[in-house]
Amino acid sequence: MEVIIQPNQESASSLAARIVSREIRANPHLVLGLATGKTMECVYRHLVRMHKEEKLDFSLCSTFNLDEYVGLFPSDPNSYRHYMDQHLFRKVNVDPRNTHLPNGLADDLEAECRKYEAMITRFGGIDLQLLGIGKAGHIGFNEPLSALRSRTRVKALTPTTLKQNAPFFGGEERVPRRAITMGVGTILECRRCLLLATGGSKAEVIAKAVEGPITSMISATTLQLHARCTVVVDEAAASKLVEKDYYRWIFANEPEWEDYR
Ligand code: F6R
Repeated sequence: MEVIIQPNQESASSLAARIVSREIRANPHLVLGLATGKTMECVYRHLVRMHKEEKLDFSLCSTFNLDEYVGLFPSDPNSYRHYMDQHLFRKVNVDPRNTHLPNGLADDLEAECRKYEAMITRFGGIDLQLLGIGKAGHIGFNEPLSALRSRTRVKALTPTTLKQNAPFFGGEERVPRRAITMGVGTILECRRCLLLATGGSKAEVIAKAVEGPITSMISATTLQLHARCTVVVDEAAASKLVEKDYYRWIFANEPEWEDYR
């Protein structure tokens, strides 16, 4: 894992967007794994600006989102398909036919999960997976006790997640109880992972994810097993990390990060 600490939310999301744009420029056929949520909104804003002002070209990219609620129509303002259309897909030149989210309305949800996995394989696997982190430590909707080898499947959302996402739905009781999510095993197979966390409310879980023991209770800890995982945090989200000086030293000295400093 590499941990990059930035002064604030704006600089952290800008750096994450720059990592994404560099990967796209290096490989125009990039298979990009995407996440939704508040944290990602800033990243998508930067990517849209880069598309408009710096000719960042999505035309040959394919995308796979981590998750989708069960039971919501794509047109539902709370569906993740709608979120992606609003924040990214309609604002850049990605081919809509190359954008993928699990279908939470499928009659046979288990078959849909298998189909999603097969599709990722058909596209050659995910090159770069963007990740946020829930307050209980989930990546995707891999709630506590998610198996380290889990694949795309239906998960029941925990009370913590229902509470976290309630503001989008205007009340906890309106949040769908289940979602289709890539599994921990699916995520760990991506060639590169990029986790972004901002704000003090993520400080505790980031400390556990980066410096705590690997446990299925906090699925983000499994990223410690990944050969290429970059964690970008702002000062607030980094505030409970013990080894901050070490992470800063690496960022300041590793040639890989020269262009980002
Ligand atoms: C969403 C997802 C979730 C979120 C996480 C953080 O597709 O997979 O894991 O990334 O819940 O959400 P925010 O950014 O809203 O705090």
